[in-house]
Amino acid sequence: MSKGTSEQKMSKVERVRSMKKYSQKAEQLQGSFTNLNKVKWVDSTEVDTSGKQYNVVDLFSGAGGLTLGFDQANYSSVMGVEQDEDAAATFERNFDEAEQLNKDIRDVTKEEVKEIIGDKTIHVLLAGFPCPGFSIAGERDPEDERNFLYQEIIRLLDVIDPWFLVMENVPGITTIDDGKAFQCILEDFEEAGYPLGVQILEAADYEVPQIRTRSVFIGNKFGVKNPYPKPVLDEENYLACDEAIADLKDEPRNPEINHEWTNHREDTIERIAEVEPGESLYDSYKDAWKRQYPGVPSMAIKENHGGVHIHPELNRCISSREMARLQSFPDDFKFEGRMKRTFVQIGNAVPVNLANHVAKALRPTLDEIQENPDAVNQ
Ligand SMILES: C[S@@+](CC[C@H](N)C(=O)[O-])C[C@H]1O[C@@H](n2cnc3c(N)ncnc32)[C@H](O)[C@@H]1O
Repeated sequence: MSKGTSEQKMSKVERVRSMKKYSQKAEQLQGSFTNLNKVKWVDSTEVDTSGKQYNVVDLFSGAGGLTLGFDQANYSSVMGVEQDEDAAATFERNFDEAEQLNKDIRDVTKEEVKEIIGDKTIHVLLAGFPCPGFSIAGERDPEDERNFLYQEIIRLLDVIDPWFLVMENVPGITTIDDGKAFQCILEDFEEAGYPLGVQILEAADYEVPQIRTRSVFIGNKFGVKNPYPKPVLDEENYLACDEAIADLKDEPRNPEINHEWTNHREDTIERIAEVEPGESLYDSYKDAWKRQYPGVPSMAIKENHGGVHIHPELNRCISSREMARLQSFPDDFKFEGRMKRTFVQIGNAVPVNLANHVAKALRPTLDEIQENPDAVNQ
């Protein structure tokens, strides 16, 4: 019996658990000293989003997955900063009302930020700061200068003066360099007046057809507890990747809707046909070219040396639009740039539904502060 056949006998829950690497760390953080008095869990499914429209700014906006989740929960996007030209173009295309600064954040001056924001209150500052140095998928280098870009968020905090801060990163950020980088981040934000709660959230718990575990930092300037969304799905009823992309199976290649995939040579297609779910086309790639398991969420998706995962049923890699579906982007959200650049943008994004549940969870606390500003330290 082939490895694939015996593995297919796993139950859905067993399969899902075998794909999760950070459950233990997530549990540790739930009740940890770090989070004591800083975190509260909210039922985001009960939240009414029809009230006041709150404002967000997104530093390291990428294509805008995080912003979109907030946009869908009745927040308005005021500004994005993103150095990649294609990602900035995608953000600009999809968020008409926002001003996009397409440049290195280190070159963004406080004056230009002030000019864009004007007298608007920024209720939530979003920042999915770059993670390569923190990712367990790559080399973990505590000296990697990308690890220190979070200090740019702190530099711009006084001019943006947000009520809340929501930052996303890979779970490895909590353990790199024996947790020293993590401690440093917590201390630096505390000193800047935004003590952080941190939780490891599983995107599949929030209606995303993908196992994608993320560290989510939330802080605020009032000293109130930081709201996190309670999981809304459990492992039994997680969304399946094959179902999320089923209707695209017979769709022809169509750049208009980003339904484009890598052109494979005939002999590569023959080799892909031999790849079982969970296995990779190449021994040397741990995180790419893997066939997805049907019936469960996809493995974490990302662009890796030009490669993405293999379709659960077809003998080709998944398309940009299929990747976007697995990140819970709606079909009317279009990505700019050549196919490989869209893989990067989609793979970098915060899953929209995860961001949306975080956005909803924040609303009751924002409403309370809005209605009774004297009750909190402004
Ligand atoms: C993890 S991605 C953000 C994804 C985004 N939050 C989303 O949901 O779509 C990080 C982004 O930071 C951008 N970036 C990296 N270094 C930057 C810099 N120095 N200045 C501005 N943007 C930068 C990258 O191009 C990338 O798009």
